[in-house]
Amino acid sequence: MGSPQREFLCKVLVVGDLGVGKTSIIQRYVHNIFSQCYRATIGVDFALKIVNWDSNTVVRLQLWDIAGQERFGHMTRLYYREAVGALVVCDLGRVTTIESVSRWKEDLDSKVCLHNGRPIPVILLGNKCDQMPLGTTNTNLEHIGQDLGFSNSHMTSAKENVNIDLAIACLIKEILANE
Ligand code: GTP
Ligand code: MG
Repeated sequence: MGSPQREFLCKVLVVGDLGVGKTSIIQRYVHNIFSQCYRATIGVDFALKIVNWDSNTVVRLQLWDIAGQERFGHMTRLYYREAVGALVVCDLGRVTTIESVSRWKEDLDSKVCLHNGRPIPVILLGNKCDQMPLGTTNTNLEHIGQDLGFSNSHMTSAKENVNIDLAIACLIKEILANE
């Protein structure tokens, strides 16, 4: 007889400006594929990954891939409902996307919280670390993340598969700690 299985359905939001690599991160994480060609997400897309977290815990991770253009829309409040965690993504090569991180974090904090009223855990991803003309370091990113109240931050590359699994595992850990 095995130990009883715990199963959690976790809704996780993936937000950030246009073209920072949200869809690419999800494609890498869920299907281990990467495409150079850019097709902007319209509205929202969904992906599901079943994660065998430990011998008695299964996480059904429902990833909500929210189009960058939605920051200027009025739909985010609807999309954010019942989320238990989020990733805010910026492009380490484009300063405007790094500046937008605070606005995405504020948008999340003002529109979604856990059932106990606490804020949902949010992790900052500095993506495209395979190409970084601005020379942002891990320390810079960590400072930005700490100042803005992120749980933690990671430099990632969807292209070269750097830190994607690690960052999402960190988020799942935070989410399970709230269960
Ligand atoms: P929206 O749907 O418009 O909000 O964009 P998005 O955030 O989903 O961006 P998407 O994943 O579509 O990626 C935009 C472009 O960046 C594509 O051409 C990708 O191939 C490229 N890209 C994504 N991640 C990386 C990365 O880690 N490194 C490099 N070099 N390019 C990347
Ligand atoms: Mg997209």
